[in-house]
Amino acid sequence: MLNQSRILIKGGKIVNEDCSISSDVYIEDGRIKEVGLNLQIPAGVTVIDATDKLVIPGGIDTHTHMELAFMGTKAVDDFHIGTKAALAGGTTMILDFVIPQRGTSLLEAYDRWRVTADAKVCCDYSLHVAVTWWSDKVKKEMETLAKEKGVNSFKMFMAYKDVFMLQDHELYAAFSQCKEIGAIAQVHAENGDLIAEGAKKMLSLGITGPEGHELCRPEEVEAEATQRAITIAHAVNCPLYVVHVMSKSAAKVVSNARRNGRVVFGEPIAAGLGTDGTHCWHKDWAHAAKFVMGPPLRPDPSTPGYLMDLLANDDLSVTGTDNCTFSVCQKALGKDDFTKIPNGVNGVEDRMSVIWEKGVHSGKMDENRFVAVTSSNAAKIFNFYPQKGKIAKGCDADVVIWDPKATRKISAATHHQAVDYNIFEGMECHGVPVVTISRGKVVYERGQLKTQPGQGRFVPRQPYAEFIYKRVNQREQVGQPSPVIRKPYDGEIIHLHAGP
Ligand code: URP
Ligand code: ZN
Ligand code: ZN
Ligand code: ZN
Repeated sequence: MLNQSRILIKGGKIVNEDCSISSDVYIEDGRIKEVGLNLQIPAGVTVIDATDKLVIPGGIDTHTHMELAFMGTKAVDDFHIGTKAALAGGTTMILDFVIPQRGTSLLEAYDRWRVTADAKVCCDYSLHVAVTWWSDKVKKEMETLAKEKGVNSFKMFMAYKDVFMLQDHELYAAFSQCKEIGAIAQVHAENGDLIAEGAKKMLSLGITGPEGHELCRPEEVEAEATQRAITIAHAVNCPLYVVHVMSKSAAKVVSNARRNGRVVFGEPIAAGLGTDGTHCWHKDWAHAAKFVMGPPLRPDPSTPGYLMDLLANDDLSVTGTDNCTFSVCQKALGKDDFTKIPNGVNGVEDRMSVIWEKGVHSGKMDENRFVAVTSSNAAKIFNFYPQKGKIAKGCDADVVIWDPKATRKISAATHHQAVDYNIFEGMECHGVPVVTISRGKVVYERGQLKTQPGQGRFVPRQPYAEFIYKRVNQREQVGQPSPVIRKPYDGEIIHLHAGP
């Protein structure tokens, strides 16, 4: 009888973010127990042959919205189907967003997300929490979440006016609190006031279709908010993470800020790296609506390649998907008015293959950078490295056996997600996950999923991630402005007279 919790992966090439080595990996009880050649292994273990394959850390998707209630409906990929699909694509952990309604408790929303997700997840997960309004209670709850609930990242919206959007003074307060409690501030960077005005203008021009979504929020609307968020974060010495960087203009802003020494990280998503916004001009309304998300996929077809270049060169740091899926009949809520089309696209299943195809197969990045941007950097920024994001003794056994030469064609007909289309439909990808191991269990093997709802675990995260806070803390000590010491002024002063 083979022991399912003891696995030997033989003959593969281990790829970490810093180097690749030919080596075997021995897994026991959910952890990587040994890495090396000629290992002394107990009898009866399950042996997996990885000859000619890569052995990589499981993918970490930094940005999902499973079963999110949003724009009057609910995302169709729930925590069960969504995490199963993730595993089939080589992703072994997701970070989802708790999004409380304006005026409601962050802690209560967090508890609801935990109850829902804990029962359903098939892979490990963690939670970011959105700050959708501001008050002393919110400030206090952020502290409790960081100290007691394993949350070290908070998302602030600069868009969705009157729903989730914060004003600049509220961003200042929220960023200050993030810094105070050792968290990282995340922003949805778009100018919500300009979007609201732009939407009115497009509708008044009779533009009601999906193209109106991009036309009312062109690139500079994203770039301006990105720059504003960076400026506010710098004013309070708070590390910043820009979620879903979708345009060349916004990516340039992040890149320039990094070159000017700002502690800022940019997250492009699979959709933005693998496709573009030209689809929103398609004559078939349903086809066009599938691609509506915020910030929009850009109609400039050079955008995906440009974002990939920046990702390859560390101007952008990490990849997510913003997986927030609405089927066509849900998108149809906005058939006569693009502002009512539920925003969101798929990606959680296909991110790894899309990035391999457009990043590694294209020659823009090597296999090590692939691991950095799909896994290790996320674990470092969100503070669970090297528990995850690395193949080494003692790490969680979230491991993918990756065939860099195999190909697959992406299609809604074969994907595991609940949504009834796929924005990457027809894309031929090199780079296929052959086996996925989650916490030491084979959960996906050559097309077969073997997983149960609730099999994944919540991963709590500590504040003050060293990867970002070493610089922040040092700057705090040496970067305080000080007054010029001078003699008091003792000359004449004019007299001011009260009244007109
Ligand atoms: O279109 C999107 N991005 N939907 C999900 C909500 C968000 O802003 O991330
Ligand atoms: Zn967002
Ligand atoms: Zn199209
Ligand atoms: Zn999102």
